[in-house]
Amino acid sequence: MEFSELLLKRRSIRGFEDKDVPMELIDEVIADSLYAPSGGNRQAWGFIIVNDRDTVKRLSDSSKKNILEQIEKDPDSYMARYKDGLSNEKLNVFHNAPCVVFILGEKGPMGKVDPAILATYFMLSAAAKGLGTCWIGLGTSPGPDMKAEIGVPDDMTILAPLCLGYPKNIPDVPERKPANILKRIG
Ligand SMILES: Cc1cc2nc3c(=O)[nH]c(=O)nc-3n(C[C@H](O)[C@H](O)[C@H](O)COP(=O)(O)O)c2cc1C
Repeated sequence: MEFSELLLKRRSIRGFEDKDVPMELIDEVIADSLYAPSGGNRQAWGFIIVNDRDTVKRLSDSSKKNILEQIEKDPDSYMARYKDGLSNEKLNVFHNAPCVVFILGEKGPMGKVDPAILATYFMLSAAAKGLGTCWIGLGTSPGPDMKAEIGVPDDMTILAPLCLGYPKNIPDVPERKPANILKRIG
């Protein structure tokens, strides 16, 4: 597949077939993602693989509850725009994916860039293998009990929860703005 074709094929997928993802295939996608660049080649990241629908559902419920509690405390927060959606009992923030791979980074400002690049590699590799992904910002804050259950270490934070599964369909590319080129020199 041409790289430009892959860029179109990698879409945020929000509907998955009722089919499990083999652990070996997840390992292959992870292996591909390790070719991502990182500052000083530190590779300061971690993976937590949740390939179990019941745990994915409980992580979704916990994330929704945690965010709604935060909105209660701070009604003017950015997250308040999601209040109605998150209050819907049926909503699964992970779009009922059979698997979620959490990409973790170190706590602190330096812990975000490298795992974000890694996540991008992961999503492109998954698309090349016929899998669908969606980065779920709403899934970064499960409650402390769920964080403990899935094994988030104290010195790391969840940066990119990535839904993974076989896509029901691949949507068209959502509209892109023209490149915001601020200046050309030369
Ligand atoms: C940091 C980040 C957080 C996101 N959070 C969510 C989310 O919580 N739920 C969701 O359905 N999509 C989420 N997305 C997916 C975006 O909505 C999506 O990338 C965007 O609409 C463009 O569509 P495309 O990925 O198909 O190009 C997130 C994407 C990023 C990069």
